[in-house]
Amino acid sequence: MLRFMLKETDEYDRLAEFMTRFGLDLSDKDRVGDQVLKCWKVVQEPDFLTGGIILSKRQGEFILDGIAVDAPLRRTGMGRIMVNKLVTEVRKLDGKRIYLAAKDPEFFEKVGFSEVEGNEAGNLFTCSGCGQKGDTCFPRIMKMEL
Ligand SMILES: CC(C)(COP(=O)(O)OP(=O)(O)OC[C@H]1O[C@@H](n2cnc3c(N)ncnc32)[C@H](O)[C@@H]1OP(=O)(O)O)[C@@H](O)C(=O)NCCC(=O)NCCS
Repeated sequence: MLRFMLKETDEYDRLAEFMTRFGLDLSDKDRVGDQVLKCWKVVQEPDFLTGGIILSKRQGEFILDGIAVDAPLRRTGMGRIMVNKLVTEVRKLDGKRIYLAAKDPEFFEKVGFSEVEGNEAGNLFTCSGCGQKGDTCFPRIMKMEL
């Protein structure tokens, strides 16, 4: 029987490499003021990486900075479980909302995010500087109110 575990991890670089494989761009992590707060991984035991999620803080706002699930395991609920973990953590930290730049808005709508109106997110996201924008990626800025 396959066993999966969701665990907190400090392996940011491992998760970033995993997410990059699925087309995510984490290249703005070194921006001044950015703080990676926590990362979680889902592993098939003992340590085969099958999913990951990253929580950051930027300009005082909580950001879901990246999430990915290994392709064969998608649509099995793993993404939702990781989002729920992150939401629980932000609530513990007394956060009132979470922002993200969504490559896959339909998934994020399903798990409780909605699209941000107008310029509400200001310059929280630098998608305009990413070479994928408008080419292979059509991001939408979304938020969840807690
Ligand atoms: C987006 C991603 C993390 C979703 O993970 P997942 O484990 O497949 O999601 P879940 O199985 O938990 O799905 C939760 C719900 O969203 C739905 N869903 C998942 N992906 C979806 C999609 N692409 N389009 C529409 N609905 C989707 C599921 O059907 C499920 O709905 P239900 O609760 O009504 O059954 C995964 O597809 C992925 O890794 N994609 C590549 C990386 C990526 O684009 N990450 C987002 C960057 S912003």
